[in-house]
Amino acid sequence: MRMVDIIAKKRDGYELTTEEIQFLVKGYTDGSIPDYQMSAWAMAVLFRGMSSRETADLTMAMAGSGEQLDLSSIPGIKVDKHSTGGVGDKTTLVVAPLVAASGIPVAKMSGRGLGHSGGTIDKLESFAGFQAERTREQFLQQVRDIGVSVIGQSGNLTPADKKLYALRDVTATVEAVPLIASSIMSKKIAAGADAILLDVKVGKGAFMKTQEQAEALARTMVEIGGQVGRKTVAVISDMNQPLGRAIGNALEVKEAIETLSGNGPEDLTELALTIGAHMLVLGGLVSEVSEGRTKLEEIMRSGKAVEKLAQMVKAQGGDERDVYEPSRLPKAKLAWELTAQQSGYLCGIDAEMVGHASVVLGAGRLTKEMPIDLAVGIILHKKSGEPVREGEPLATIYANDERLLEQAKRELKEAFSYSETAVALCPLIYNIIG
Ligand code: URA
Repeated sequence: MRMVDIIAKKRDGYELTTEEIQFLVKGYTDGSIPDYQMSAWAMAVLFRGMSSRETADLTMAMAGSGEQLDLSSIPGIKVDKHSTGGVGDKTTLVVAPLVAASGIPVAKMSGRGLGHSGGTIDKLESFAGFQAERTREQFLQQVRDIGVSVIGQSGNLTPADKKLYALRDVTATVEAVPLIASSIMSKKIAAGADAILLDVKVGKGAFMKTQEQAEALARTMVEIGGQVGRKTVAVISDMNQPLGRAIGNALEVKEAIETLSGNGPEDLTELALTIGAHMLVLGGLVSEVSEGRTKLEEIMRSGKAVEKLAQMVKAQGGDERDVYEPSRLPKAKLAWELTAQQSGYLCGIDAEMVGHASVVLGAGRLTKEMPIDLAVGIILHKKSGEPVREGEPLATIYANDERLLEQAKRELKEAFSYSETAVALCPLIYNIIG
């Protein structure tokens, strides 16, 4: 087999065989296929697309390109959750302990933040002493013992995807839907998922800017799941404005704890219950989403969800007192209030701009190596659609550096837009596929 023939076949719009796809993934991983051929192939895929069979083959070849986690020693159906990323998205911090408290095991690998999107692992490190690096045996044992563990991504998972994603980033081929879908799904499958819940974000602060794009990606991933025997459901949710009111690591942890106790913001609570209820159906605990939701609401009210988070934090070396007394979490030295520049209605809070302002403060990183400040961030006092009066507080910035605070103020001001009349709001959940 020759890579040049495979590139030509895709360029001319033909379907590749399973063997051809396995050949190119193997060759690219072991270095026998060079970057220039792989980038030509990725560009051909961008223009010609891939059938669902080809996309499933690519997913499985990438999933098998490195280490694969075997979760079979954990009883039950292991349901994984993935978000395509957004600003203020602390859903995993809520959903993982909540679903685990219902009896469905949650063995989850999560990432760190990059750019304007935060990462679950950074947020969890707000708990003093929390360890995200665990051996495989520690990880599995913890899930068998207490039903939940969230750890950092193993370095050896899906090396083919790691290489291809980096190549796509510099060859203008990130946008190809089959490549995005197989990239995400291969990581979930290599991490041992039996079933997968995807939170596909759409809007200004998301990777997918339109509902059409988000639905195309979601449908492709659900189809891959169907082809490879992993039940998959995708929730398409809004990321025009930040999720919840807190942006920044420790601030988001505090909000997640409030949500687990049933006192969280409406949007985050609603999304966590929707995602959680679907995970309960995927995990075979209930047959109806509404039944799952009722169960999760009861768990929140009973205090068992917060208890489960405390158990997880303790099991991973963190201080569980931080869960029951969130005032112990890292705190910034400076606070500054942004007030409304006019009266009327808030017609938008640009999630990407708020995300950038939080990165300026040090809550996020622009390169993988950058250190982050766990204490800093932004709390929104108003959300899109709410009426405001001139001079009313819109948000508080928490900072540890005067110069960065000045820069973040300028960025944050630009994120708010006003209308004199009431505005139609974007829905929180646009669609559920699968
Ligand atoms: N996220 C991924 O993991 N892969 C992509 O290709 C795009 C977004």
